[in-house]
Amino acid sequence: MKRIQVINGPNLNLLGKREPSVYGSQTFEAYFEELKARFPQIELSYYQSNVEGDLVSKLQETGFDADGIILNAGAYTHTSIAIADAIRSISSPVIEVHISNVFKREAFRHHSYLSEVCKGCIVGFGLDSYRLAVESFL
Ligand code: DQA
Repeated sequence: MKRIQVINGPNLNLLGKREPSVYGSQTFEAYFEELKARFPQIELSYYQSNVEGDLVSKLQETGFDADGIILNAGAYTHTSIAIADAIRSISSPVIEVHISNVFKREAFRHHSYLSEVCKGCIVGFGLDSYRLAVESFL
């Protein structure tokens, strides 16, 4: 059975309540149940933290065993050399995902420290970005 780890960064615990016009009105927990039901052949795990170092630790902890990691690092995408270095340091392939189309938004969201060390990026498909990322590992 393939093992895929989903890692969400800061403020993504507020999905459903946070800027619904940008991020939708569904909680990630509810969406994740749908995702698991859609891919019963895959062992999907979910982790969220608002703390940069916790995200680095989770990447280190899962990044040698998981068949794939789906990472939405939230705003750390645009700031974190530490998360980029963690991705460089592990062997599991990482897909960068974003719910919103960051390229349609403020200029500071157009740069990602993570994209160059990720296998690929899926941006702007709402929560469906995560499903597309899972499909990419099948
Ligand atoms: C986000 C985009 C980031 O710019 C933002 O800081 C987020 C969410 C997205 O999924 O669209 O927190 O990663």
